[in-house]
Amino acid sequence: MSAGFAAALKEAQAKISAHMDKRLPETDGLCQAMAYALRGGKMLRGFLVLESARLHDVPEAAALEAALAIECIHAYSLVHDDLPCMDDDDLRRGQPTLHRKWDEATAVLAGDSLQTLAFELLAQPDVGPHAVTLIRTLAEAAGKDGMVSGQMLDIAAESAVAPLTLTEISTLQARKTGCLIEWSACAGARLAGADATALRQYAQALGLAFQIADDILDIEGDAATVGKAVRKDAEAGKATFVSLLGLDQARLRAGELADAACAALAPYGAASDTLKDAARFVISRDS
Ligand code: IPE
Ligand code: IPE
Ligand code: MG
Ligand code: MG
Ligand code: MG
Repeated sequence: MSAGFAAALKEAQAKISAHMDKRLPETDGLCQAMAYALRGGKMLRGFLVLESARLHDVPEAAALEAALAIECIHAYSLVHDDLPCMDDDDLRRGQPTLHRKWDEATAVLAGDSLQTLAFELLAQPDVGPHAVTLIRTLAEAAGKDGMVSGQMLDIAAESAVAPLTLTEISTLQARKTGCLIEWSACAGARLAGADATALRQYAQALGLAFQIADDILDIEGDAATVGKAVRKDAEAGKATFVSLLGLDQARLRAGELADAACAALAPYGAASDTLKDAARFVISRDS
């Protein structure tokens, strides 16, 4: 990880965490569970919001609401993904999953209220004149045409008779993982009412590279470093980029995608160097 990117990510994590303390005081058990779900991740999606907002001179007060909002949606998606009825996982970010620490009902409800909190944040006055666009696009990215539909395809694939084709896996991953990453990187342009084309192209390549890295980590990583159970995909008989392409080709493809992500940022010049570093980080990360 480049020193510049490490510092920028750390700064983003600190700012988003401080904003979380402000917007989500841990006044009862539900709020404690929600805060637990938000803590301990890389906050890559929130970082993408803050960085893209910086490129478009968006006031930080607006960017922080959007950054915390996407972290809420992401955290909720993980809490539900870990439930026994889905991936049935005990470990997340090196800690017990929420339903293991509390119980399943609390995990369902904390996920539900993280989702509604995201939209509450985007409706704050500080978000500014383009709030409705942010709200609509986040609903699209998270719901029936986005992350949830990707999760549905992922579950269906476990019991599919024939393994998925590369095209089908790409669609599944673009929805499951790609949509939230794309929303995050486009948020800065949208908050400014500017054209999001370059950031969208960056994020589409980044999202796919990110998921290939996740699939590689599932095979090559160890649970202590990755912070979650590994070898789950093969166990569940899941078709992934790695199961279809093999490790070497998957790694090559991730590298090409990171290059494509960086090339898409050309219109922003050197101001986008930290986002380019993020693309390199995504394919070389060990957690
Ligand atoms: C994990 O996402 C889930 C996927 C979409 C593959 P991250 O690797 O960004 O998880 P955290 O938030 O850093 O724990
Ligand atoms: C989960 O994908 C993606 C979402 C929660 C939307 P995975 O099931 O591969 O994520 P991990 O490996 O448990 O983090
Ligand atoms: Mg899953
Ligand atoms: Mg999972
Ligand atoms: Mg995974």
